[in-house]
Formats: sequence, structure tokens, C-alpha cells
Amino acid sequence: MTNVKTRQLSVNGVKRTVDAPANETLLETLRRIGAVEVKCGCEKGDCGACAVLLDGEAVDSCLTLTGTVGERAITTVKGLGGAENPHPLQTAFADLGAAQCGYCTPGMIIATQSLLTNDTDTPDEADIRLALSGNLCRCTGYTKIYDAVLDGARAMREAEAAK
Ligand code: FES
Ligand code: FES
Repeated sequence: MTNVKTRQLSVNGVKRTVDAPANETLLETLRRIGAVEVKCGCEKGDCGACAVLLDGEAVDSCLTLTGTVGERAITTVKGLGGAENPHPLQTAFADLGAAQCGYCTPGMIIATQSLLTNDTDTPDEADIRLALSGNLCRCTGYTKIYDAVLDGARAMREAEAAK
């Protein structure tokens, strides 16, 4: 392996020291260190399965070289929530049948989180279709995903208002 460098990454709030070659993608690094909730699909920016947040912005980790990440905070879907403490979007996807095989779901939730925190917390269907246009799903036909985003967004607004 050539040009291997030791790099410091922040993954879901935890500092990780990794040895990564110059040509390794963030997708490869994350899965190698155990973050297999980041899914590997096309590896060329077409499917969105590998999406993570970098300082809150959704990126395709298959198109991001680990060496370019620097100190930016990496958030995977596990960093948003899990079985014990589900994020409102995870709850909405589960409740409304928006996850079938589930392979696209981490990327869908990451892209949605980016939409709701960076663009609008009251999205309409056009906003959602645009935000998720880089995320492919083979199972659901998308309608249930759009419904789950609307429901999750409502739940997030209610949670924010209750603070
Ligand atoms: S695996 Fe990255 S966009 Fe498909
Ligand atoms: S739920 Fe199977 S690919 Fe989307």
C-alpha cells in the first residue's frame, strides 16, 4: 500500500486514529473500522447508499477521499440514533413502512437530516423529491419514504417546540 498516512477522524463524536492510503475513500475507511451502517452500493455517486454528514452536510462517502476530511465531524446514521434512542426520522421510516430491505435507508435518513437542518424544516413534496434525488430505492416506490419524511419533519418540529 502506498502513501499510507495516519489520520485523525471524528466519527459520531468519537476520535478515531486510522491509517489510510491517499486513494482510500471515506466509505472504505468507515466500513474498514466497523461503521458498516454506511452502505456500499454503486461506489460512483449514483445511489446515495453511502451518504454521511460532514459538518452537517450530506456527502457521498464513496466520492470523498478520507485524506480530505480533516477535522470535519463525520456523522453516520448511527450517530443520529439507534434502536434504544431512535431519531424521529428513524421512527417515521419504521412506522410508515418506508424501509423494506433497508439498504437505502441510512442514506435516505442522512439526506433527509441534511435537508431538514440546512434547508427547510417544513418541506413540501417537491423539496423532498429534490433532496432525495440522489438516493435510489429498489423496494418502496418512494411514496412511503416521502410520507415518512413529512411525518419525521413534523415530529422534529414538535420536539424542538417542546424544548
Ligand atoms: S455507494 Fe456512494 S453513491 Fe452509491
Ligand atoms: S428499502 Fe430496499 S432499497 Fe430501499
